[in-house]
Amino acid sequence: MLVDSHAHIQLSQFDRDRHEVLQRAKSAGIEQILVVGFDLKTSQQAVELAMNTENLWATVGMHPHDAKDLTNTAMDTFQRLADHPKVIALGEMGLDYYRDLSPRSIQKTAFEQQLDLAEELDMPIIVHNREAYHDILPILRSRKGRISGVLHCFSGDVDIMKQTLDIGFHIGIGGPVTYKKSDDLQTVAKQVPANRLLIETDCPWLAPQFRRGKRNEPSYVISVAERIAELRGTPAEEIGQITTQNFVTLFSNQNQ
Ligand code: NI
Repeated sequence: MLVDSHAHIQLSQFDRDRHEVLQRAKSAGIEQILVVGFDLKTSQQAVELAMNTENLWATVGMHPHDAKDLTNTAMDTFQRLADHPKVIALGEMGLDYYRDLSPRSIQKTAFEQQLDLAEELDMPIIVHNREAYHDILPILRSRKGRISGVLHCFSGDVDIMKQTLDIGFHIGIGGPVTYKKSDDLQTVAKQVPANRLLIETDCPWLAPQFRRGKRNEPSYVISVAERIAELRGTPAEEIGQITTQNFVTLFSNQNQ
């Protein structure tokens, strides 16, 4: 019993063998996959894919890289897409100060606009962060109690984890926890309370150690679960169960 809470299987990297990828995921026990959009095109694709496939869910949103494209028309489209019964969250949204592909002030505006929509629609959010916790956490804290969601592909230390938990957010852990030089993340994986943990692949990127550098896919979320289980000294089945339960709890007040 496993969930991949963050996958981009709508992308062209999967066009040749998407069916096989989904079959492998099913055989591996991945019961649900959240297909995450990050701009207009990939959000529309995520909704279409989820609409036509059992056990797939979708999110719609604008990544900070493309924050400059978040026009009023785009916001209207996201709002319309969010109404679809298989759309269970908004995002990914957030701040990326590593690549800075949109000016930071525009990233912040786009983040705030999508947070407003999430509050208005009462939907959880998927947050992308890269070297921007110092700005993301205060923004989320100012809306504490009014929004929920996950900091996906968590990359902070224990202190940032504690602040994230205090705001009521979940911690999404992916392939990097399997890498040798990920001491902070491994400590976080050990210490995060069981009821706040989600696991993900972020495929096609961030493949776990045994496939590092290759295309990632939902079935590989097993090695994330196994590594976290090893770190916590619990069976991998238990990590599968609690993260599935957390996924349902966080997203189930939605359209499903
Ligand atoms: Ni992603």
